[in-house]
Amino acid sequence: MEFEQVIKGRFSARKYTTQSIEPEKLNAVLEAWRLAPTAKNIQPIKIYVVKSEEWLAKVDKASRCRYWAPTVLIVCGDKESAFERNGHSTYEVDASIVATHMLLEATNQWLGNIWIDLFDRGVIREEFDIPENLVPVCLLPMGYQAEDCPISPLHYERKNLNDIVEER
Ligand SMILES: Cc1cc2nc3c(=O)[nH]c(=O)nc-3n(C[C@H](O)[C@H](O)[C@H](O)COP(=O)(O)O)c2cc1C
Repeated sequence: MEFEQVIKGRFSARKYTTQSIEPEKLNAVLEAWRLAPTAKNIQPIKIYVVKSEEWLAKVDKASRCRYWAPTVLIVCGDKESAFERNGHSTYEVDASIVATHMLLEATNQWLGNIWIDLFDRGVIREEFDIPENLVPVCLLPMGYQAEDCPISPLHYERKNLNDIVEER
């Protein structure tokens, strides 16, 4: 895809088919994380790639927002190793950049995708036995979107640049 098509074509997909993601496409998505910028290039991120029914059921315990996607990436930031100054750690920013890179690459691979914040972090931590230093930042369900996958009206509600940019 052209970059412009990726940016303009991405939307939050909320209905998927059961078709699994080809390994090379998933690798391309994960490679987009490997090449993403992080503060001081510390790369304080760990991703859990969830594909099996058994483990997807554990994701479902934590969130009602998987939307039947066959793959979910759990993006975690490492609060202990991330860059920190004056008590401010960049782990959440780093994880968000990484997640965004992966969503855009998923779109580039013609895969539907969505960012999920609505999940119980405690349940995810417990079910996946996530160590204390890692903080689950977001879930990224992805896969082939269903033919009748809706696009939320919210997708089209865009502010005007004049209202959100100020030149000085
Ligand atoms: C930080 C963040 C958290 C989000 N959490 C959820 C969520 O928990 N459930 C959901 O269905 N969509 C979630 N979304 C998707 C947004 O609702 C969606 O991006 C927004 O409405 C714009 O629509 P679009 O992505 O289709 O352009 C989230 C998006 C972001 C960036």
